[in-house]
Amino acid sequence: MFSLKGRKALVTGSSRGIGKAIAFALARAGAHVVLHGSKPSEALVNTLASAKSEGLSVSMVTASISSSDEINTMKKQLEQQGDADIDILVLNASTQCYMKVHEFDAAVFEDMFKTNLASSFQMINLFAPYMKEKGWGRIISIGSVNQDRPAGRLSVYAATKAAQKNLMKTCAVDFAPYGVTVNTITPGVIHTDRNAATLKNEEFTKQLLEKIPSGRLGSAEDCAGAAVFLASDEASYVVGADIVVAGGFQL
Ligand SMILES: NC(=O)c1ccc[n+]([C@@H]2O[C@H](COP(=O)([O-])OP(=O)(O)OC[C@H]3O[C@@H](n4cnc5c(N)ncnc54)[C@H](OP(=O)(O)O)[C@@H]3O)[C@@H](O)[C@H]2O)c1
Repeated sequence: MFSLKGRKALVTGSSRGIGKAIAFALARAGAHVVLHGSKPSEALVNTLASAKSEGLSVSMVTASISSSDEINTMKKQLEQQGDADIDILVLNASTQCYMKVHEFDAAVFEDMFKTNLASSFQMINLFAPYMKEKGWGRIISIGSVNQDRPAGRLSVYAATKAAQKNLMKTCAVDFAPYGVTVNTITPGVIHTDRNAATLKNEEFTKQLLEKIPSGRLGSAEDCAGAAVFLASDEASYVVGADIVVAGGFQL
C-alpha cells in the first residue's frame, strides 16, 4: 500500500521545513520529486544532494511564487527538463508576517495574497489540465490551524489560509470527476526555520505547550505521512478532506 512508484511530484517550498520532509517522504514512497525553492540557495542545493545521496529520484526548479511571471517561467523550465508531467502537486510554500488588523499595510497584504493564494490559482491552472487528461492526479495544499482559528497577530496570513482552504473545496468538487483529488493538510505548531526565533522564547513556548494536548511541538516529519497517504492510490476516494496534524492544538 501507499506506493508512489511511477508518479511525479512537485513540492513547492521543499528546500527546507515541512516541504522538504514531504518531498523526502514522497520520494521514499517511489515518486520522482521536483524540489522547489524561491531562488537557487544553499538549502535547496543541499537538500537535492542529500536526497540523491540516499538514492532518491529528484530534480529541482526555482521560482518566487509571488511573481506570476516567475511561475510561468518555472513551468517552461519544467518542460525543458522533462518534468512538466506532474501527477502530484503539493502547494506548500507560503510566507507569513505578523500584522494585526490595525497594522494593515496594503503592500504586505498584496504580496502575501499573491504568494499564498494567487499562486495556487495559477499553478492549479498550469498543472491540473495534465492530471485531468490523464484521469489521475493529486493536489495537496498545506493549510494552517490559523485558517479556522486565527491568531490576531497573523490576520492576513490567516485570511490567506482560509481562502486557500476554500479554494481547495471548490477544486475538490470540480476535479473529482476526472480522478483528481484535492485535499488539505493542516499543520499546528511545527518547529521549522519559520518560527525558530519565536520558539526560542522559553516562556512563550511553555505557555504554547500547555495548549497542545500532545504536549510537544510538531516536527516537519509529522506532516509527511499524511501527504504520502493523500498522494497514494489508497486515497482515491478522499476528496475535499482536511487532515489536521496539530497534536490537538486545533481543539
Ligand atoms: N511551521 C509551522 O508551524 C506551520 C504551521 C502551520 C502551517 N504551516 C505551513 O506549512 C508550510 C511550510 O511551512 P514551513 O514552516 O516549513 O516554512 P519555512 O520553513 O518558512 O519554509 C518555507 C519554504 O517556502 C519557500 N518559499 C517562501 N517564500 C517563497 C516564495 N515567495 N516563492 C517560492 N518559495 C517560497 C522557501 O524557499 P527558500 O528556501 O528559497 O526561501 C522554503 O522552501 C507553509 O505553507 C506554512 O504556512 C507551517
